[in-house]
Amino acid sequence: MRLKNKNIIVTAAAQGIGRATALMFAKEGAAVIATDINEEKLSELSEENNEIKTHKLDATNKTEVEKFCSSVNNVDVLFHAVGFVHHGTLMDCDDDEFTRSINVNVYSAYLMSYNLLPKMLNKGKGNIIIVSSAASNVKGAPNRFIYGTTKAALNGFVKALAIDYVKKGIRCNAILPGTVETPSWEGRVNMADDPKKAREDFIARQAMGRLAQPDEIASFATYLASDESDFVTGTLNLIDGGWTL
Ligand SMILES: NC(=O)c1ccc[n+]([C@@H]2O[C@H](COP(=O)([O-])OP(=O)(O)OC[C@H]3O[C@@H](n4cnc5c(N)ncnc54)[C@H](O)[C@@H]3O)[C@@H](O)[C@H]2O)c1
Repeated sequence: MRLKNKNIIVTAAAQGIGRATALMFAKEGAAVIATDINEEKLSELSEENNEIKTHKLDATNKTEVEKFCSSVNNVDVLFHAVGFVHHGTLMDCDDDEFTRSINVNVYSAYLMSYNLLPKMLNKGKGNIIIVSSAASNVKGAPNRFIYGTTKAALNGFVKALAIDYVKKGIRCNAILPGTVETPSWEGRVNMADDPKKAREDFIARQAMGRLAQPDEIASFATYLASDESDFVTGTLNLIDGGWTL
C-alpha cells in the first residue's frame, strides 16, 4: 500500500500506460480518478477495478477541464499521460497537424496543471508527473518531428514547474519511455506498409531487443507518486530499454 491516502488524477487512463498506471495506483491504495475521452474503455477499467472512479474528460477542452477540476476537492498527484503521435517529418506536418499536436501534447499538460496546482499549493504539497518521451530533446527519432518537438517542450515544462514551486512543496517529474507495447503503438505498426518489418524495427532499436510493457512504466510512476521519491523533482526519467545508450 505505497500510495495509501493519496488522491490521484490520471489522464488518458482508458488504455495503454495511463490504464496500467491507474490500476497499479489503485492496487497500491490510492483513491484514483481515471479520466479519458473514451467513455466506453473507461467503463471497462472500472469493471476491472470498481474502486477506481472514472470521468469522461477531454484534457484539451478548457471548459471541461475547469469544470472537472473545480469538482475535485483533494488532489495529491496528477499523472498526465495524454499524448498523440504524429508520423512524419517537418514537411509532412501542416498547420493543422502542428496545432493538433501542440494542443494534445502540451496544452493539455498546461490546462490540467493550471487548474490543479492551486489546490496542491493550498495543501502545501503536490506532485505532477508528466509522460513525455525519449523521442524529444534527448533523442531524434525518424518521422517524429512534431511529436519530438512537443515532448521536448514537456521536458522544459517539467523543469520550469519544478524550479518555480520547489520551495512550496510541489514536485514535478517526467517519465520518458522508449517504445511501449500499447494499443496505439499496435495501431501505428499495423498502418505501416510492411507491419512485420515495422514491428521488428521498433524492437531492434531498443538495445534490450524488446518493447516495454505498460506495467514497467506504471512501476516507475508508482515510485514517483509515492513519498519514497519525496526528494526527487525536476527529473527526466528515461525508461527505454537502452534506446538512448
Ligand atoms: N506507447 C509508446 O511507445 C510511448 C512511448 C513514449 C511515450 N509515450 C507516451 O505515453 C502516453 C500514453 O501513450 P500510450 O501509448 O500508453 O497510450 P495510447 O495512445 O494507447 O492511449 C492514449 C489514450 O489517451 C486518450 N486521449 C487522447 N486524447 C485525449 C484527450 N484530448 N483527452 C483525454 N484523453 C485523451 C485516448 O482516448 C487513449 O485512451 C502518451 O503521452 C505517449 O506520447 C508512449
